[in-house]
Amino acid sequence: MSMSLICENLYQFTTYVPPMDFTLHQYLLAAEPAVLFAAGTVPQARAALPQMREVLNGRPLKYVFVSHMESDESGGLPVLLEAWPELTVLCSALGARELPGWGYEGQVRVSGPDAPLQDGALSLRFFDYPSEVHLQDGLVCLEGRSGIFYSADLMLRFGNAGGKVIEGSWQDEVAGISPERVPNEARRQKLQEALLSASPKLIAPGHGFCVRLHGA
Ligand SMILES: [Fe+2]
Ligand SMILES: [Fe+2]
Repeated sequence: MSMSLICENLYQFTTYVPPMDFTLHQYLLAAEPAVLFAAGTVPQARAALPQMREVLNGRPLKYVFVSHMESDESGGLPVLLEAWPELTVLCSALGARELPGWGYEGQVRVSGPDAPLQDGALSLRFFDYPSEVHLQDGLVCLEGRSGIFYSADLMLRFGNAGGKVIEGSWQDEVAGISPERVPNEARRQKLQEALLSASPKLIAPGHGFCVRLHGA
């Protein structure tokens, strides 16, 4: 597990899986209040915890955004809840119903396109994401002040990408959302339209290279 500073206040925690040439990332946005994008797997959450505490310097982690229920996105929740009992999970309504199965019994705020979150320096906007694997209602998330878009399994890339940022365009990245990721064509188009109504500055993916966006 390694930690990299991607841009101001954005810390990336990465596990690299050599046989797959694939990275798993979590991101801590150390704003006031602080939010973590993806809980990570249990081993990753355990490994990242001491560094997260160091970055937060005594402040609590207030939110964890969980895109969908899968080991890399939600597995580490019990580890995080033990460290920060006041933690609130931000997830979809379906995700909230699944949380007890992941051993999480802390606070939950059901989030979605109609339920953005303003809290201190955070301005979170959510997009419906019919996530691959389950093909049901997950979410992806944009933090509007920093322009950071956490894409979960969208816009992912292979490669040893820890700490690395490439250049790209938002239009191309949105157009590149393939049927393998979101097979339902109507829902894929709806997601693409919703995403194009936003203009992030940086894509922080769950896997692969971060993308700094042109013109942002
Ligand atoms: Fe996933
Ligand atoms: Fe993932």
